[in-house]
Amino acid sequence: MDLIVFVLFAQLIVAVGRPILKGKLSNRFFRFSWTTFCRLGGSLEKRKKILAQLISWFNFWADCAYLAVVILLGVNIDHTATLRQARYRQADTTFGGNVQPDPVALALLCEKAGADGITVHLREDRRHIQEEDVLRLRTQIKTRLNLEMACTPAMTEFALNLKPHSVCLVPESREEITTEGGLDVVSHREKVACVTGTMNAVGIKTSLFIDANAPQITLAAELRAPWVELHTGAYANAYYSDRRAAEFEHLCAGARQAHSLGLVVNAGHGINYANIAEVRTIPHLCELNIGHSILSYALFYGIEKALRRMKALINAWTLPFHLVVLW
Ligand code: PXP
Repeated sequence: MDLIVFVLFAQLIVAVGRPILKGKLSNRFFRFSWTTFCRLGGSLEKRKKILAQLISWFNFWADCAYLAVVILLGVNIDHTATLRQARYRQADTTFGGNVQPDPVALALLCEKAGADGITVHLREDRRHIQEEDVLRLRTQIKTRLNLEMACTPAMTEFALNLKPHSVCLVPESREEITTEGGLDVVSHREKVACVTGTMNAVGIKTSLFIDANAPQITLAAELRAPWVELHTGAYANAYYSDRRAAEFEHLCAGARQAHSLGLVVNAGHGINYANIAEVRTIPHLCELNIGHSILSYALFYGIEKALRRMKALINAWTLPFHLVVLW
């Protein structure tokens, strides 16, 4: 109940704040406030200044409230590069001319359609994303760049030069088709501590892509990684089996534990248009990282539709309040 009241309040703030921010001074609420405000003393200039300050605070807190209730969507665009590399692995360049599709162009479209961040995995074997892609993304996207990387000195150096908004440490094996299983922080404690410490020192947020197991989560907090990304792959694989409920409960327990230890909780892997209805109910979620299902949907319906649909499903429960905002 508290949450619903909070959401209603947040949406009300945004609903009132947006028209003011957009300069729609003619709306009734504003006219009423302005008349009341004018009755107060002081010169007109001074009053205008105070009002501008109030509006800016108001919008700052409205944005904070809004971010607190929605789950963000990071789009993993690796598979665009998989498609490109299938044909143009030997090309001299990674974009332009015949070399298609361009992951950076896709990232820009994703942003336009509402992606809150772009995620890429620069793998050791460079099977899809290439260094040049990451460098171009860094200068061209306007949201956040999240670099997935193995816990190696070479990748750490690359990240330090690149300065992405965040890095996500993932396990990497050349034989796997995609990232299988979470990073074993317990077995690789020293390596993970070293990378996390280095990133913390230069202000790059580190996320640890881990299975929702208690010892992994406890250690993630001990190593002062600010974020964890819970691996949802086992749950996604069990979705059509009778193990689904247990896997889901496992993720929820992990999310609760991580939150109680002060970690920001993200999740990713195997999330699609079917399981999102349940995934989004995992407690304390901040951001979901989704790739394969969005790009698969986009093949048929276009990236804009794919993203808008996923975003709507993720935050479906806030839709009635969004209508208030739009109105
Ligand atoms: N999060 C991480 C850490 C990943 O490595 C991947 C890709 O394997 C994803 C999220 C996205 O997974 P998917 O493509 O299954 O949506």
